[in-house]
Amino acid sequence: MTERSKVNLPDLFKKMDKGEPITWLTCYDYPTAHLQEQAGVDMILVGDSLGMTMLGYDSTLPVTMDDMIRHTQAVRRGAPTAFLFGDMPYMSYQASNEDAVRNAGRFMAEAACDAVKLEGGREMADRIRAIAAAGIPVSGHLGLTPQSVSALGGFRLQGKGAAAAKRIIEDAKILEEAGAFCILLELVPDRVCEIITERSENCLIMSLGGGPHAHGQLLIYHDMFGLYPKFKPKMAKVFGNAGEVILNGLKQYVDEVSNGTFPAKENYFGIKDEEYDELISELGE
Ligand code: KIV
Repeated sequence: MTERSKVNLPDLFKKMDKGEPITWLTCYDYPTAHLQEQAGVDMILVGDSLGMTMLGYDSTLPVTMDDMIRHTQAVRRGAPTAFLFGDMPYMSYQASNEDAVRNAGRFMAEAACDAVKLEGGREMADRIRAIAAAGIPVSGHLGLTPQSVSALGGFRLQGKGAAAAKRIIEDAKILEEAGAFCILLELVPDRVCEIITERSENCLIMSLGGGPHAHGQLLIYHDMFGLYPKFKPKMAKVFGNAGEVILNGLKQYVDEVSNGTFPAKENYFGIKDEEYDELISELGE
């Protein structure tokens, strides 16, 4: 385990003030959380993208609160000091402030989260206000918001035109004023991200495919390591092809069992001769 003490909000804002980029990754399970903790990742998001990366759905929409809680608990066990976000799944907050506060509270009480994240612009300002008023740190998420992928017409760059970009910039300020301590900008043009970062007064602006002019970066873990088979977004850099390493290992396993080279002597246990002889005589053979 790392020696670091628990990452908290003042630590994150200190980094922001010093101009030190904040690192943020998605994570959905205990062993990966353990590795991310060892690597010193500042913040971890248990994203509802787990519906696609871990459960194989075509979108994030089928993910439930219970799915999220189960995975978030596992991640917290593996990463005790990272600043941990629970991602509010589809229809856990859209219908009412009461739903939003109750479900945000579940992440805090049942999964030891430090914050929650929800998607949407000005129309979600009331939800952000209600969650923040309940004492729960809350992050917004603008640009490509996967829970609205149908309305947005697919997984594509948002805010390309001046009018759409202006709306995202206004939304960011509205969410900050409603109490968001952090806003994720996903797939927006770099200069739009830069304007929002410059205008932020007391809000961490995080970029996923929005370029370098933010307070930090988020990547989806499965995209970083070649672990998502369906597509590889342009914004994701592959930092190592774990998918290929694992596939080669699996093929080798199939070969070695098939040709009898696994298990070898060092992979199993024997029994002493006298115990074996007694066993045979007990069995009457
Ligand atoms: O669910 C998730 O992982 C997310 C990312 C797309 C940022 O919200």
